[in-house]
Amino acid sequence: MMFEPQAGIFVEGTTAHFLLEFKLIEGVSSEQLAATLATAVALADEGVNRVWAFSAECWRSIAPAECPADIKPFTAVGEGEHIAPATQQDIFLWLHGDNPSANFDAAMAASAALASVATLAFEKSGFLYKDSRDLTGFIDGTENPKGRGQQLVALIPEGEPGAGGSYVLGQQWVHNLSSFKALSQPEQEAVIGRTKPDSIELDDEVMPNNSHVSRSDVKIEGVAQKLYRRSVPYGGVLEHGLYFLAFSADIRRYDHILQSMFGVSGDGIHDHLTDFSTPVTGNYWFAPSAAELSAIGTL
Ligand code: HEM
Repeated sequence: MMFEPQAGIFVEGTTAHFLLEFKLIEGVSSEQLAATLATAVALADEGVNRVWAFSAECWRSIAPAECPADIKPFTAVGEGEHIAPATQQDIFLWLHGDNPSANFDAAMAASAALASVATLAFEKSGFLYKDSRDLTGFIDGTENPKGRGQQLVALIPEGEPGAGGSYVLGQQWVHNLSSFKALSQPEQEAVIGRTKPDSIELDDEVMPNNSHVSRSDVKIEGVAQKLYRRSVPYGGVLEHGLYFLAFSADIRRYDHILQSMFGVSGDGIHDHLTDFSTPVTGNYWFAPSAAELSAIGTL
């Protein structure tokens, strides 16, 4: 298999997004699933980047020989009031570009193509907010890897099963913006761990140990748990938040960061951000390489 990631993972700056999660219909055979998916993933629309990803169970049934070592279903993290719930579905499709009409047509076409094997279980459309900010008003993505570093962080290395593919975490977070906006700017900055206008990390002396940066900048045995984050703001006045979306060469990085954010990494401290925003879905996906994706049906 060629080391060729799905290109849409790395296309940045797009203004319109569609996030779709499908559930497999019971009793569908692996052959039927693979044949239907082969048709659906071959769809292409001008101006739409598309990234396909699959649950452990779904990918195993399509590509038993190509399964990456650590893919697994998402399980809930946390305790008490702070829980990241698991709502594992089977197929994930992220459509993005600068044309909401093209995204809509592509979402409709993909859902129709999958209709005999899977039903749409979740959808969100999202948008670029200002200069790549989360709806809290803070720039999201400052600490993301750049250039060649993006592939190093996001992709399973050559020589391993699933090479050129990526482990994906997708979570819908619902913000309580009225309570966040009730904080003063310095208080908001203490929640995030960065300044609001220009995203400068707070100095060590003033950085709270429960800021989002403190809880998400995790080192395990000296190794920084790096992610390539591609989260998308979504929603309207009644409900809004962030569809957290990230790509990683190693699925355990998500477990380590979520345990740290949800107060179950040993020190009992939870991320102050989880007092203002709540995850309501949680899925682990495997996004195969472009080569594997186009070989569905023959794997
Ligand atoms: C409501 C949900 C979330 C919001 C609004 C949010 C927002 C932010 C913001 C504003 C930053 C600082 C700027 C930057 O470096 O991008 C940041 C950093 C970061 N976030 Fe989140 N985030 C959320 C959830 C998560 C989750 C669920 C994870 C991981 C599972 C995560 C992992 C990270 C990491 C690794 C960093 C960089 C930390 C560093 O090394 O400085 N975030 N996030």
